[in-house]
Amino acid sequence: MKNKVNHIAIIMDGNGRWAQNQGLKRSKGHEKGAEVVREVTKYCASHKDINFLTLYAFSTENWKRPKIEVDFLIKLLQVYLKKELALYLENDIKFKAIGDLSRFPNSLQDLIIKTQKKTEHCKALTHTLALNYGSHDEINRALKSLNESDLELNIENIQAKLDIKENVDLFIRTGGDHRLSNFLLWQSSYAELFFTDTLWPDFTTQELEKIIEKFTTIERRFGGLK
Ligand code: IPE
Ligand code: IPE
Ligand code: MG
Repeated sequence: MKNKVNHIAIIMDGNGRWAQNQGLKRSKGHEKGAEVVREVTKYCASHKDINFLTLYAFSTENWKRPKIEVDFLIKLLQVYLKKELALYLENDIKFKAIGDLSRFPNSLQDLIIKTQKKTEHCKALTHTLALNYGSHDEINRALKSLNESDLELNIENIQAKLDIKENVDLFIRTGGDHRLSNFLLWQSSYAELFFTDTLWPDFTTQELEKIIEKFTTIERRFGGLK
C-alpha cells in the first residue's frame, strides 16, 4: 500500500544565496521565494491527500539578522498576506499563523487575525506559516499552559497544547543543509526527511511531485515490523 501524505512541512531555505548568486540583494530572493510559496500552496490545495502544509517563514533565531533584513521580511509578509486572501478563498485554503506573534507589529498581527477569520471555513488545505516560531519556544509555551491548567502532564495533553497538533508525514528542507533548525521537532518524530540542494526560489511543484512520489513508496514502520 502506498503512503498517503497528509501533512507536509517545509524549511524554505536558500533565498539569500539565490539572490547573491546573481549579484542581487538578499531581499530579491525573499520576494522570489514568496512566489514559490504561492505555487506550492496552490499545488497542495489541489492534491487530494494533502490536508496540511506548514511552512517555516521566520524562526525565533532569525531576529539575529540585520534589522534591515528583518524589517524587509515583516513588510513582505504584510504585502503577501494582503495579496493572497483572494487566492486563499478561490482555492478553498484555510490560512493559519503559528509561533509567538506578539513580537510583530500590531498591523501585521491584525492582518493575520483578519486573514485567519476570513478563511476559517475553507477545507481544501490548512496552510500554516510559522512566524517567530521555534520548537523549543512552542514546547515551552505548551508546558507553561498545561502547568496553569488542571490537566495532567502527559504526552497527549502536551501535544494538544502545541501550535501544530498534526504529526508531520513529509519534512522537506531546501537549500542544501541537512539540519532541522528548531522546526517542528516534536511533530516530526516519525516524519520522512527529504533534503534537496535546490534553493527555495528555484523549487518547483514538479520537484515537489517527485519527492511526494518517492515518499509514497517508503516503508514506514513506526518502530514495528513489516
Ligand atoms: C530562508 O532563506 C528564508 C528565511 C530564513 C526568512 P535564507 O534567508 O535563510 O537564505 P540563505 O540560507 O541565507 O541563502
Ligand atoms: C531556517 O533557515 C529558518 C527558515 C527557513 C525560516 P535559516 O537559514 O534561519 O537556518 P540556519 O541558520 O541555516 O540553520
Ligand atoms: Mg538560510
